[in-house]
Amino acid sequence: MTDASAPRLDTDPRHPSLTFRRAGVGDHARVVSVIGPWWERQDADRLALLLPRLFFQHFADTSTVVDDEHGELAGFLIGFRSASRPEVAYIHFVGVRPDQRRTGLARTLYERFFEAMRASGCQRVEAITGPPNVRSQDFHRAMGFDATGDTVIDGVRAWRDYDGPGEHRVAFTRPL
Ligand SMILES: CC(C)(COP(=O)(O)OP(=O)(O)OC[C@H]1O[C@@H](n2cnc3c(N)ncnc32)[C@H](O)[C@@H]1OP(=O)(O)O)[C@@H](O)C(=O)NCCC(=O)NCCS
Repeated sequence: MTDASAPRLDTDPRHPSLTFRRAGVGDHARVVSVIGPWWERQDADRLALLLPRLFFQHFADTSTVVDDEHGELAGFLIGFRSASRPEVAYIHFVGVRPDQRRTGLARTLYERFFEAMRASGCQRVEAITGPPNVRSQDFHRAMGFDATGDTVIDGVRAWRDYDGPGEHRVAFTRPL
């Protein structure tokens, strides 16, 4: 019998010093604690509320945490398969520690997620970001996503009031 709560350790030849594993409830606090420094946003507390504990309880199998050789958090991806549209996978959050950026780590996290979701029958992957998050938009475009929106906000195609009044979002979609 296997213990579903035990971390499944994994390595990736693209990142020999890093360890990839399934996310767990014990990761919630450490992931939330890096949102401020990694996202460099004034409203980091508000952003952290978008990542409640439930993601680490109920979407752990499709979410990945990456540790460096010292056991420090190097990156993470929180994603899941849509319960309502099983052909769709959704990436809710991705973050890479600043000193690990531009090494392909987010690409690796995405590609591993794509592969797992493809294997489970998904045909499309979606994600959203805010119009000011140009870095995330550039990253998603580099990863082959198309951006959609119904208007232009701050020079970016976005959906007005997507998540409520004033909460505009750029929606990304990509076939798997
Ligand atoms: C966005 C983020 C996850 C990218 O992580 P990363 O590990 O540096 O990205 P990678 O090295 O895997 O880059 C993958 C591709 O995206 C492109 N890319 C990454 N960061 C970029 C940037 N700042 N500007 C332009 N392109 C960028 C790379 O050129 C690369 O393309 P290529 O493989 O064709 O060369 C990272 O900057 C981050 O954690 N930012 C803060 C959190 C955030 O905004 N998350 C996304 C919204 S939830």
